[in-house]
Amino acid sequence: MKISPLVERPDLVAQVAAWGFAEWGHLNPGETLERRVVRIEGKMNVDRVPVAFVALDDGGDIVGTASLIFDDLEGDPRNPWLASVFVLPTHRKKGIASALVRAVEETARRLGYSRLYLFTSTAPDLYAGLGWRPLERRDYRGEHIQVMDRTL
Ligand SMILES: CC(C)(COP(=O)(O)OP(=O)(O)OC[C@H]1O[C@@H](n2cnc3c(N)ncnc32)[C@H](O)[C@@H]1OP(=O)(O)O)[C@@H](O)C(=O)NCCC(=O)NCCS
Repeated sequence: MKISPLVERPDLVAQVAAWGFAEWGHLNPGETLERRVVRIEGKMNVDRVPVAFVALDDGGDIVGTASLIFDDLEGDPRNPWLASVFVLPTHRKKGIASALVRAVEETARRLGYSRLYLFTSTAPDLYAGLGWRPLERRDYRGEHIQVMDRTL
């Protein structure tokens, strides 16, 4: 398994967009799959935010994704954010999400940030186990979310 910037695998944009749309489309009112593709294409960077990553198995097939972005939580001035962490269900519990999180953390640090944020409604324990600190809980677009941060 290896983690690569999405810009190295432009053939995977459609798959990353499809996963994200299925998992989080409801959090972005008015979003369509086509708009998500355009947003993902905007994350094909390595030296500036936003950056999307893909986890690849030994055969080069995509098994997960995660992103470093700005402005994940509407109206919240904190930045940048770890976002869109997703692992193919058949490949979970093997440390792939953890490796994706570490890649995003390393990139944020390399780009000069000293703190990183995330919000989650599904996996606070995963991030706590990786050294993230719980901040406030709140309701956001119909979900109860936990905001967390990590010093880099
Ligand atoms: C949440 C999610 C990203 C986790 O992905 P994952 O690759 O299974 O995560 P990891 O393997 O890195 O870690 C998950 C757990 O497996 C454990 N684990 C890691 N490596 C392991 C291994 N080799 N063997 C067994 N367990 C392992 C971790 O300790 C962790 O334990 P925990 O559940 O007690 O926290 C995945 O379930 C997912 O895509 N869910 C849907 C989307 C989602 O909710 N994303 C998060 C949004 S913020």
